[in-house]
Amino acid sequence: MVELTLPENSRLVPGKSFKAATGANHIKKFKVYRYDPETGANPRLDTFEVDLDKCGPMVLDALLKIKSEIDPTLTFRRSCREGVCGSCAFNIDGTNTLACTKPISEISGEAKIFPLPHMPVIKDLVPDLTVPYAQYEEIQPWLQADTPEPNRERLQTKEERAKLDGLWECILCFCCQTSCPSYWWNGNRYMGPAILLQAYRWIADSRDDSTKKRLELLDDGLRLFRCHTIMNCTKTCPKGLNPGRAIGKIKEAVVQRT
Ligand code: SF4
Ligand code: SF4
Ligand code: FES
Repeated sequence: MVELTLPENSRLVPGKSFKAATGANHIKKFKVYRYDPETGANPRLDTFEVDLDKCGPMVLDALLKIKSEIDPTLTFRRSCREGVCGSCAFNIDGTNTLACTKPISEISGEAKIFPLPHMPVIKDLVPDLTVPYAQYEEIQPWLQADTPEPNRERLQTKEERAKLDGLWECILCFCCQTSCPSYWWNGNRYMGPAILLQAYRWIADSRDDSTKKRLELLDDGLRLFRCHTIMNCTKTCPKGLNPGRAIGKIKEAVVQRT
C-alpha cells in the first residue's frame, strides 16, 4: 500500500536557535534543515540569526557565515560562488535555486533552506545524487563521431552551433530534476529533465553521429515519456534554460524516427 505520511523518524522536529551577537541591528533569521545520520535523531530545523550588516548579499554568504562563525558542523556543497559549478543548489524559500546567485534581499521574512526535494539526504543540505549521475552516465554525454579524428576542431556552421544555445549552459545543478513530480515518483526509471536536456545537447550536435542510438535509448514509456509537460523544470531553472522544450524536441525526434 502507498505510504502517504512520512515515517516517524523522517519527521522534522524543532531544532536549536542561535542568537545574533548583541549590538546587531540588521538581523535576518535563517531556518536551516539539519540531519545527521550518525546520531539517529530526526531531522530538525535550526534557526540562525545573522547580522546582515556583516554578511555578503547572497544566501550562500549567509550559509558560509553560519558555518565559519556559528556552527562549523553545518554541511553543504559549494565551490565556484559564481553560478557555474552547480553544487550549491538547495530549496530556498520554497524554490529550488542556487544559493550563490540568490540575493537575501529577495526573501521576505525568515529564509527557509532545505536540501533539494525528494532525494535521500546524506547530511544537512547534501542530497545523494548517485541516481541522477548514474542516469547521466547512461546517456553517454560525450561526442561520438564516426569519422576519423581530424588534426583540428570539428567545424560547425553558425546555424549548427546556434542549435546548442540553451543547452550547453546547463550546469547540472539538478534544480529542475528535483522539482519534477514525474521524477519524484519514478526517479529510478524516468531520466528527468536535467538528464534529458543533456541528452538533447548531444542529439542536437551536428558533429555527433550517434543520434539513432541515443534516441533508441530514450524511446521508452518511462525514460522519456514519463514527462507530462508540467513544466516545473523550466520554471525553476536558475540559468533560465528550458528543459521542458528540450524534452519536447526529443519526443518529436523519437516520433519522426518511428
Ligand atoms: S515538463 Fe516534464 S520534466 Fe519538466 S517538470 Fe514537467 S514532467 Fe517534469
Ligand atoms: S537545466 Fe537548469 S536547472 Fe536543470 S540541471 Fe541544468 S542548469 Fe540546473
Ligand atoms: S557555488 Fe557554484 S553554482 Fe553556487
